[in-house]
Amino acid sequence: MSDIKKIKDEFLERLNKDLSIESVNQIKSELFGKNGKISSSFKILGSLPTEERKKFASDLNYVKDELQEKINKKIQQIEIKEINSKLENEKVDVTLPERNIVQGKIHPVSQVIDELSSIFSEIGFSVEEGPDVENEHYNFTALNTPDNHPARDMHDTFYLDDKKELLLRTHTSPVQVRTMLKGKPPFKIIAPGRTYRSDSDQTHAPMFHQVEGLHIDKNINMGHLKGCLNYFIKSFFEVDKIKMRFRPSHFPFTEPSAEVDIGYELKNGKIVIGEGDKWLEILGCGMVHPNVLKNVKINPDKYQGYAFGIGIDRLAMLKYGINDLRAFFETDYRWLNHFGFDPLDVPSNYRGLSR
Ligand code: DAH
Repeated sequence: MSDIKKIKDEFLERLNKDLSIESVNQIKSELFGKNGKISSSFKILGSLPTEERKKFASDLNYVKDELQEKINKKIQQIEIKEINSKLENEKVDVTLPERNIVQGKIHPVSQVIDELSSIFSEIGFSVEEGPDVENEHYNFTALNTPDNHPARDMHDTFYLDDKKELLLRTHTSPVQVRTMLKGKPPFKIIAPGRTYRSDSDQTHAPMFHQVEGLHIDKNINMGHLKGCLNYFIKSFFEVDKIKMRFRPSHFPFTEPSAEVDIGYELKNGKIVIGEGDKWLEILGCGMVHPNVLKNVKINPDKYQGYAFGIGIDRLAMLKYGINDLRAFFETDYRWLNHFGFDPLDVPSNYRGLSR
């Protein structure tokens, strides 16, 4: 048997087996690659005597065509097989139930922070932030809060070290100090954020949210404070008229200090802000204490101002009729789906998770 015939038989036999595309390509290069069997056979043509060369060339061409054709067919067969098996395995089962579309929701606290920021920005406040881990100086001392003040008690404050120097801020008021140390008056800022106290029951969570307000300039008085809060409460609760009263109070960092109540009534068990003869406490405020200004190197004879602190979670509960504070932080998706908000770019009638 001539060499060519041997090559032909050997490779046809291999090509008749069940092969992958890779194996066929391997065979192809063994035959027709640079040093492949067929390619090298062509190379010896020139060295053969004329008579033999003719026959050899014709046989070689014949075998070459036959193997080439076999390889092409084999590749085609494998491709068809692959397509068929894909069609079989990947066919769409239209009887399968559809998947739920899960659209995230904005938490009421985040929503209220956005609302506050936009309401206060309309009257010239900018937004500041401070760290959750605060030092004793900014949280208490600089805010004129003496060593024996009850807020400093272990029962009220989460201290992070034995020396009681680092703590989780108990209010957003230290951002007042940080802001004033960082720049020069005038200041007109709000500072929303997380706050912490060692406290937990139906209306208190160990982590909660506050927004601090601070306005320092020349000739700022309590009338400005009243006007600012009046505007804020009306805008936030979306009412034209509110009843608001200032009750004398005490905070170490303001003098005079006040707590502000707003009028409400109960209609079908729901709180309606603005009307009625009941009172609801919503914030603490006052004129910034001269000692606080001195602590941040501002001359209290030149600059004065007001500050206020509001509980954000409580605002959200009042505005959106949510009555258990603890649910805010339980991360129950069903709760969030009910009380949460759609992002602005989603139509308001889109209900998110299909139920
Ligand atoms: N920091 C106070 C608290 O957590 C709230 C507060 C009261 C903030 C009066 C103020 C203020 O800025 O002027 O209870």
